[in-house]
Amino acid sequence: MQKLALFLLGIILLSSCNTESNQNDSEKTESQQKTEELMPISQDPHSYARPQEAVITHLKLSLEVDFEQKLLNGIADFDIENKKSVDKIYLDIDGIEIQEVTADGEPTEYELGKPDTHLGQALAVLITPQTKRIRITYQTAPDAKALQWLDSEQTQGKKKPFLFTQSQAILARTWVPVQDSPGIRFTYEATVTVPKDLLALMSAENPKEKNEEGVYHFRMPQPIPAYLLALAVGDLAFEALGERTGVYAEPALLAKAANEFAETEKMLLVAEEMYGTYRWGRYDLLVLPPSFPFGGMENPRLTFATPTILAGDRSLTALVAHELAHSWSGNLVTNATWNDLWLNEGFTVYFENRIMEKIYGKDYADMLALISYLDLKAEVEERIESNPKDTHLKLDLLGRNPDDGVSSIAYDKGFFFLKRLEEMVGREQLDEFLSTYFNHFAFKTIDTEQFLEYLHKNMLDSLSDAQRGKIDITEWVYRKGIPNSLPRIQSERYDEAIAAAALFKEKNELPTKQQVGKWKYQQWEFFLRELPDTLSDEQLQTLDKTFKLSESGNNEILFQWLLHVARNEYKPAYPQMRTFLTTVGRRKFLSPIYKVLLANPKTKNLATEIFEEAKPNYHSVSRNSIQGMILEVQNN
Ligand code: BES
Ligand code: ZN
Repeated sequence: MQKLALFLLGIILLSSCNTESNQNDSEKTESQQKTEELMPISQDPHSYARPQEAVITHLKLSLEVDFEQKLLNGIADFDIENKKSVDKIYLDIDGIEIQEVTADGEPTEYELGKPDTHLGQALAVLITPQTKRIRITYQTAPDAKALQWLDSEQTQGKKKPFLFTQSQAILARTWVPVQDSPGIRFTYEATVTVPKDLLALMSAENPKEKNEEGVYHFRMPQPIPAYLLALAVGDLAFEALGERTGVYAEPALLAKAANEFAETEKMLLVAEEMYGTYRWGRYDLLVLPPSFPFGGMENPRLTFATPTILAGDRSLTALVAHELAHSWSGNLVTNATWNDLWLNEGFTVYFENRIMEKIYGKDYADMLALISYLDLKAEVEERIESNPKDTHLKLDLLGRNPDDGVSSIAYDKGFFFLKRLEEMVGREQLDEFLSTYFNHFAFKTIDTEQFLEYLHKNMLDSLSDAQRGKIDITEWVYRKGIPNSLPRIQSERYDEAIAAAALFKEKNELPTKQQVGKWKYQQWEFFLRELPDTLSDEQLQTLDKTFKLSESGNNEILFQWLLHVARNEYKPAYPQMRTFLTTVGRRKFLSPIYKVLLANPKTKNLATEIFEEAKPNYHSVSRNSIQGMILEVQNN
């Protein structure tokens, strides 16, 4: 009886897809009642999946990449496990158009939930206790949030188009109908058809060169969560870096990229030495066009990276260490929900720092730790009044975009918490704990509470009462702001840069060329961050003339410089600022500059004007963030 009702309802929903207004009242109420049922009920507030009832275990994906219409035609075959003999399996979709659904080869009904701005919709597929497989035939929307379709002009080579995905946190559901929760892992295989002159790559075993057919096969034998599904299509070539490592880039950038990342194999070995075998086979990097919204994304086997780290001197490769470290913290042991993001990112910043220390020494790692500290301080200052709970390690993102949780808190407060543990128990013991932890939870998911329980059982309980009493776990994890026990970092190089900034502030005295000749880029960052917000045109001119900051090939330095340019309305460097804002899509750089410009009535219009020009170049992740900032300013 119930089944029949559902069946009929499926038909109603199906046939009323685009004709809401034609529904009569009784149908409307019924469908509304139904849609209310399709709410997230699992532990993960950002997914409609109910993995305790029925869960996906393997995905066989077939994709046709259509550059003309800017969409993907897909067939997703899922092996499923119907744990509770339920009659529906719930998936997540966002903007996807479903064309057909089958269960074990037979057409079956499905229901769509009410669309939510952040979450998209639930897709409930009717199954029986015997169903082993479901197939969903679909098409993506031209504005699918995970996808960025680039015209040839937006690439390095300017001759061929490019497509890439960014699935984390909850955008996989915009290009694959899937149970899009970090707590749900599945293996996958894929066949991807692309224009014949392009290469396709995925977060999987990858081809090294193009083939004549434009058809590529992929296999990911280790189970991964949906946010690690990734695809890139473009004019790409490969160069080996070491036995297990290599880099893909557009041909014009390949040599530069291979030189920049020459130390990747060494990083991999150093990482394995610390926390155990690398479990994913190969580790390759893919250099994306500059509109990539992040610095890096740890797609398994194939880190996606921004070209803004190609500084020419290997100075920004901590990012590689970071994404590589995610192969343990994040990809192997995964945060159960986005409220637990610090388990991914905080651990990874710690691991990244350790890799960099092994390769470049303690002084270098300490400078990175100090940048973490500066970022953390700034983030806490910004959030502590308006949103104190956002400064807890354990977040509460119910009803919000998980993007709100991507802040220095997860990264840098998380990092300092691990440093604090290291300070308490010693490095040796912490390392032993972490190795065991990565092994114990390999290919599993974990939330903050499970981690704390494990931490107590496996490390803290064996400490003396006096030692244990000093570790203020609750304060670190469940309270706001920066705990008093934050480890302090000493660094001569930092002190030197701060002293130089003080001299400039007080006496307008510049560091000598000889002095800065020995500086690492981090010291430029310290120096620039330490300068007062208000600088005179003369001061800015002197700085730029002497040190050629506007032309810096190091994007971290350029970014810090452009912040001063924006704050002080320093017009001589506006052309460089405009070029930066229109070519680079990395949100970490864009948001702070736009924020400054938008806060000043005199530059507000400039910001919106630049945004209008740059918009087609931004991935939805960056575009929506900046658009949000602009709307906020306009509404106030
Ligand atoms: N996994 C993150 C990027 C991310 C986090 C995307 C949350 C969406 C939601 C990646 O590993 C990362 O942290 N990237 C940083 C690199 C940096 C910390 C070295 C970035 O993009 O700036
Ligand atoms: Zn990360």
